[in-house]
Amino acid sequence: MITKKLFFMAGLAVFLSSSKQYEAMTSVIDRGVRRSAEQAMFMAKAMEFDNDSLPRSYTEQRGLIKSDSHWWCSGFFPGELWYLYEATGNPKLKSYAEIYTQRVADQQYTTDNHDVGFILMCSFGNAYRLTQSPSYIPILLNGAQALSTRFKPVVGLIRSWDTKTDKWRYPVIIDNMMNLELLEWAAHHSDSIKFAKIASSHARLTMKNHFRCDFSSYHVVSYAPETGAVEKKNTHQGYAHESAWARGQAWGLYGYTMMYRETGDTAYLNHAKGIARFIMSHPNMPKDRVPYWDFNAPDIPHAKRDASAAAIMASAFIELSSLTKGTPDFSKQCLNIAEAQLRTLTSDEYLAKKGTNGGFILKHSVGNLPKGTEVDVPLTYADYYYVEALVRYKTQVLGKCSRK
Ligand code: GLY
Repeated sequence: MITKKLFFMAGLAVFLSSSKQYEAMTSVIDRGVRRSAEQAMFMAKAMEFDNDSLPRSYTEQRGLIKSDSHWWCSGFFPGELWYLYEATGNPKLKSYAEIYTQRVADQQYTTDNHDVGFILMCSFGNAYRLTQSPSYIPILLNGAQALSTRFKPVVGLIRSWDTKTDKWRYPVIIDNMMNLELLEWAAHHSDSIKFAKIASSHARLTMKNHFRCDFSSYHVVSYAPETGAVEKKNTHQGYAHESAWARGQAWGLYGYTMMYRETGDTAYLNHAKGIARFIMSHPNMPKDRVPYWDFNAPDIPHAKRDASAAAIMASAFIELSSLTKGTPDFSKQCLNIAEAQLRTLTSDEYLAKKGTNGGFILKHSVGNLPKGTEVDVPLTYADYYYVEALVRYKTQVLGKCSRK
């Protein structure tokens, strides 16, 4: 009798210790949304009267680190608030989303960098998607116009940076694929055909010049401004010119999935699939599916992980899974990796406890490791794409309608 009881107790202990692994995805998503909404509310309140500021990062020593609207990440927090309003229906989150969105409005006229796409689509793009308010349309169209001034027809690509001219004459970074979503939006909301043409030219040349045979990508490709000839294939934030910087692979995956969604062009779909396979089958991808900051970091398995890359990938994989239902095995593989990433990001290792982490949702992202800046810290883009992934999972996988 005693032996039977002991066996039962031991079995129960094993079951309980492993049951976390089997938490249903609905519960993972609900927990993630709940904590994210608590953190976003905490942060929104903390900066409510700080009129020109947006969150950037946080450290124990420095506390909350803020930015102005010109910083490339300024649109992520407003966008996070919009997604959380969508997921919860909480009107307070909507009113904060409106307040923080207005803080980036001046970026509609920015022509000195390519990040206007990130800034405006995450903030005003989500505002328009959820409210359909016509007041947001001119701001997004102005932004697309500002972005298109950075396109030089002879090169056929949008120039990313005007800085670092000692190294690169016409630098284009893989991240720039993300900015094309603003041009696609403008193409659908105006009579101008130029926005779609610029986006397509940029996406096609990036496909040709940024990618290696295995579908990994360079971070920076620099061109001759007079002819459009490729001059250099380099890195800026990765480990080495020939390495695969994790966030760069995530931007590529997301960018080509988005371009297929927007245009229906199967060249983009096939490219996104190639990138997906590179990521999914990489021998250095950890079991918990949160990548090291660079797939070729020399100190793997001791290298830093990058939660931001995992969050961007999870969101892109969910969308790619939805868009490839016709190939069920591939679609399922995409969903499996996204689920693994969301489970890990929603664990205590990555998800901040309520009221900690300066109001950021996730811990352990890497901004620019070679430069030693923003290493192993919370970052707004990790939070934005994590929340986007949670909402996408809810709507695209679980089929639940949003609560807004
Ligand atoms: N777009 C800049 C970065 O990913 O760090």
